[in-house]
Amino acid sequence: MKNRISGVIAAAVAGLLIFAFGCNSVVKSGENTERSSKDLLSAGRRLVNFNNDWRFAKGDQPGAEAADFDDSAWEAVRLPHDWAISGPFDPKENGYAGKLPWKGVGWYRKTFTLDKADSGRRVYFDFDGVMAFPKVYVNGRLAGEWDYGYMSFRVDATPYVNYDGANVIAVQVDTRNHGTRWYPGAGIYRKVTMTVCEPVHVAHWGTFVATPRVDDKSATVRVRVIVENHREAKEKVAVAVTLLDPDGRIVPTGIIDTSLDVLSGNWASLDQSMIIDRPRRWDITSPNLYAARIVVSSGDKVVDTDTVPFGIRTFKFTADDGFHLNGRRVQLYGVNLHHDHGPLGAAFYTRAMERQLEIMRDMGVNAIRTSHNPPSPELLDLCDRMGFVVWDEAFDKWDDKADRIKGEPPLETYGEKQIRNLVMRDRNHPCIVIWSIGNEIGNQPYDKEGKSPERVKFMSDFVRKYDTTRPVGMSCHIPGTADEPILDSLDLTGWNYARRYANYRQRYPDKPIIYSESASALSTRGFYELPLPNEKTEFSKQLQVDSYDLNSAAWSDIPDVEFKLMEDDDFVAGEFVWTGFDYLGEPTPFSQEARSSYFGIVDLCGIPKDRFYLYRSYWRDDVTTVHILPHWNWPDRVGQNVPVFVYTNGDSAELFLNGKSLGRRTKGQLPERPANFAQDKPATASSVESGNEHVAVNATDADRSTRWCAAVAGAEQWWQVDLGEVQSVKYLAIDFEKEAKNYGYQIKVSTDASTWQDIVTKSTSRFPQWGGPTRIFHEVDVQARYVRIEFTELGRGTWASIREFGVYPEKVESDYYDVTYRYRLRWNDVIYEPGELKAVAYKDGEKIGQALIRTAGEPAKLRLTPDRGELATTGEDLCYILVEALDADGTLCPLADNLVHFKVDGPAEIAGVGNGNPLSLEPFQSDSRKLFYGKAMLILRTIDRKTGAALITAESEGLAPAEVTLQCR
Ligand code: GAL
Repeated sequence: MKNRISGVIAAAVAGLLIFAFGCNSVVKSGENTERSSKDLLSAGRRLVNFNNDWRFAKGDQPGAEAADFDDSAWEAVRLPHDWAISGPFDPKENGYAGKLPWKGVGWYRKTFTLDKADSGRRVYFDFDGVMAFPKVYVNGRLAGEWDYGYMSFRVDATPYVNYDGANVIAVQVDTRNHGTRWYPGAGIYRKVTMTVCEPVHVAHWGTFVATPRVDDKSATVRVRVIVENHREAKEKVAVAVTLLDPDGRIVPTGIIDTSLDVLSGNWASLDQSMIIDRPRRWDITSPNLYAARIVVSSGDKVVDTDTVPFGIRTFKFTADDGFHLNGRRVQLYGVNLHHDHGPLGAAFYTRAMERQLEIMRDMGVNAIRTSHNPPSPELLDLCDRMGFVVWDEAFDKWDDKADRIKGEPPLETYGEKQIRNLVMRDRNHPCIVIWSIGNEIGNQPYDKEGKSPERVKFMSDFVRKYDTTRPVGMSCHIPGTADEPILDSLDLTGWNYARRYANYRQRYPDKPIIYSESASALSTRGFYELPLPNEKTEFSKQLQVDSYDLNSAAWSDIPDVEFKLMEDDDFVAGEFVWTGFDYLGEPTPFSQEARSSYFGIVDLCGIPKDRFYLYRSYWRDDVTTVHILPHWNWPDRVGQNVPVFVYTNGDSAELFLNGKSLGRRTKGQLPERPANFAQDKPATASSVESGNEHVAVNATDADRSTRWCAAVAGAEQWWQVDLGEVQSVKYLAIDFEKEAKNYGYQIKVSTDASTWQDIVTKSTSRFPQWGGPTRIFHEVDVQARYVRIEFTELGRGTWASIREFGVYPEKVESDYYDVTYRYRLRWNDVIYEPGELKAVAYKDGEKIGQALIRTAGEPAKLRLTPDRGELATTGEDLCYILVEALDADGTLCPLADNLVHFKVDGPAEIAGVGNGNPLSLEPFQSDSRKLFYGKAMLILRTIDRKTGAALITAESEGLAPAEVTLQCR
């Protein structure tokens, strides 16, 4: 793939940057020229969508690269294609990569012809992403290969094509050396384009537009263009650059006409600046896009054209005041998004992405982190157009591997190659505000080789070689990283979870911080289990996670904790929640049993979980949110407690059950707690640390900042409280100095201080690896006057020590959840009766809206709700149809799990089905799906150039069917 020209382009771009800073020639021109007419634009290069008519076979296919290989028995496929998404799932596999058969080899072949008139022109194949290690053969000869499944690359097929007669392109794909922590997909999963152009043309990603100076009066736009010459002789070409404003009108001062001498087999570059008066800013609220149109002509003939959209904006990340866009502080309400699209797998459809962004925007999102790899280019086009800022990321967890199993070629060679393509491909997008060289580098800061500082430096220098207009960062997860010189070469850092940036903030007070992963909260859409969990890691045994939004991973927190943190630490630019959408793989906390994540704010099909409304209520004040949870179908709990939460942007709400008020709640009001029998009671201990500061009664003084601490390190220490009289004890709450995992102990009780009863035995644990709660609860049921804890085992560096010891007559909600009362309205004591639950929300005393849910009867009918009624017949347009079960009165049935069959008559086909159940091993490619908590999703795809009406029918035994008609135009 590497010819003389492509080999020197990297050096050329690097050189240009240095040159450009020394010489900023500003050309002003008021002339419009003939050369920018439409006719000329259509000349030059031809881009051919190369997604149709491929053949595919799984497994090794000896000889399949040969032009005359017989592939007639292979499956006919259309790109984008992910061979693993159709399954089958392997229930025995761990869920980290979705239990899907992504590992292995696959082959793709396609026959094509060129125009005789193309003879002598260049032929390139542009692959946006092939998972993984593709080898591209043209007419039996290896034309190119690539070694990173998420990166776009170009193959120069010119030496191998026939201009007269048939050609065969064959692509071998091999995922076996791709390293991953989630479902990567398998195959040619992003689009392929064939570019046919004259031997003299603008280099691939060879146009770079930057705006080095912007103010309200004017902006300087610098355009750099590299022109390649593949002819035998030197060429003198005219290069015309025209800037177009957001309405497509030529900017009078945005015109350059110049000429370049390009030697044979070489390149030459133009680097000039223009002024735009009163620029219309690109912003998340007004995503104005300009365009630079490049026309290259030789003599009278246009030889190439290139059009590059760009935006004019200013931004900065500050150490003390977060992120500023166009001069104002903007809090980043971000989400992390993995690359898969649920039931469609890794196969990339622009509409699937656009829909993801629409859903996220509805929730208030203004920033996307492409965790943890380069996205498809269309994601960036969409973010440019829709107004999101983007954290564009290169790799996950690289030490010396960077998503490869074998670290070959060496990281330096490999890293530069990938970063070059990433930055050159993406640097014109105004949406991108950060380049990230990676996520959570595995070997820092404890790597034995001590190479992290050097590696972080060369990776960030690679980025700067291709773009200096944006900061370079990385996501970190080990606070101690900041103690070594590892992060010195970065402009800013992202930090994942639990305020781990605190140390960095002290060490690097002048560098900006972003909370690159927050929350990692967990829930299953529609699933509620009672009683409520009292610890973030108290999970249901049913392998689903309670949707009351009180659970998170051990190393992270519920959303409310992060809201508060961002309010307190307003020097941080904002948060990127882990994650916006559920994704395939990484099903914490049920890694073995499940196949997709519980982290998403919306489920794998894009159906909102309750958490969606919590974020929306906090992030968006411009729309009214009033959302009630849970559902109101609890036949087994009539007369028992079912807590009710309301998520609203109002400050208070009144709840009514069957017309009867259950009271008004206001944000910020904490419920009363039962008394702690131990509070202010006498306490004794085996020893007290010298200085007598950390005495035994510090653990009963209701003050967490004080503690009892033993005199020496090591176990065999004890602490004891005398409650004064015998009490009926149901609950113990202990607050340790360090994470509770570090303490092993026995708890004993006595009524007379002579006979003791063991009630709790706990050992130390290594889980979770990082962090974990410092508080622990024990449900007990004893009569006790004396309560004693005897330490049996202590983690490394841990002393016997207690901040607070609580002894209660009933279960007490952990004060970890106090923060929820600040952002949610909670009625904890509701006694369930079927009927109607209504919440009326208020803000500043004014009613802003209400929500109503009802107990549903038996499922009686189906309902189909398509997200759009008209589709384009591109073969790539999609319609997401929500499928729901209703009772006879039209009330949603929140527990329905009926099996639904789909029929499509007309010009559309089923692209996938799903229901958001992380445990389901039903195939994603099927014409039926069980409802999961009342809902499922049918995804339809149009068929290339087939127009007309498509009738979609849904049927389920015992239910009235539903149908819907879509227009394919
Ligand atoms: C982070 C990691 C993510 C994801 C997340 C789950 O540490 O960067 O990729 O694994 O944890 O909480």
